[in-house]
Amino acid sequence: MALYALGDLHLSFQTDKSMDRFGAVWKDHEKKIEQNVCERVREEDTLVLTGDHSWGRKLSECEEDLAFIERLPGRKILLRGNHDMFWSVNKTAALNARYQGKLFFLQNNFAVYENYALVGTKGYTFEGPFYFNVHQEIICWDQEKEKQAKKLIQREAHRLELSIQAAMQAGFHHFIMFLHYPPTSILEDRSLLTDIAEKYGVEQVIYSHCHGEARFHDSLLGEHRGIQYSLVSGDYLDFCPLKLL
Ligand SMILES: [Fe+2]
Ligand SMILES: [Fe+2]
Repeated sequence: MALYALGDLHLSFQTDKSMDRFGAVWKDHEKKIEQNVCERVREEDTLVLTGDHSWGRKLSECEEDLAFIERLPGRKILLRGNHDMFWSVNKTAALNARYQGKLFFLQNNFAVYENYALVGTKGYTFEGPFYFNVHQEIICWDQEKEKQAKKLIQREAHRLELSIQAAMQAGFHHFIMFLHYPPTSILEDRSLLTDIAEKYGVEQVIYSHCHGEARFHDSLLGEHRGIQYSLVSGDYLDFCPLKLL
């Protein structure tokens, strides 16, 4: 048995949102996903997809994208991304009922992998605008937007704790935490979300959302204060799922 993660599939089987304009890595990316996942993930394995699954704006426009995910091998667990318009928080239970036995939607709940609880939420982080000097150093940023971001991060931190506490009540003490957004902004070394990870002794924090080389180092990578941080954006991994356990 193995646990894998991959994020930001950005599928568009029912919409005309081609990702090709974002660089060569996106050319026929759905074929790369299918090939790479089929080569690595076996039926008994678990694959966590960390959000931005589909460009469809409502469920009826996402059905073929979700069917593509369903056909991939292994148990599939989905996290909400900022582009997943088909999935508002209050629809999680309905999605889980509709896709029961096929896909699991992770939000205010948790999934089990061996003795680990897989916990998580979409997360949020402040993404600017930042203002630079001629040496490309940040000199200031939009304070109003930063204030709004802090409110959204607090809401997501609450959702994350609901997920962890549900797992604790079920008797779990080992956690792998999934976020769509990076856990920290480019200004930070820690955040409300990394503090929660530390408070509950989370072993790994997995996130995506960052696209393009300029953004791959926006947040924590590798070990920080005893936690392993990994970026699993599709284009960062050339659409190869990362083995976590
Ligand atoms: Fe994305
Ligand atoms: Fe995203």
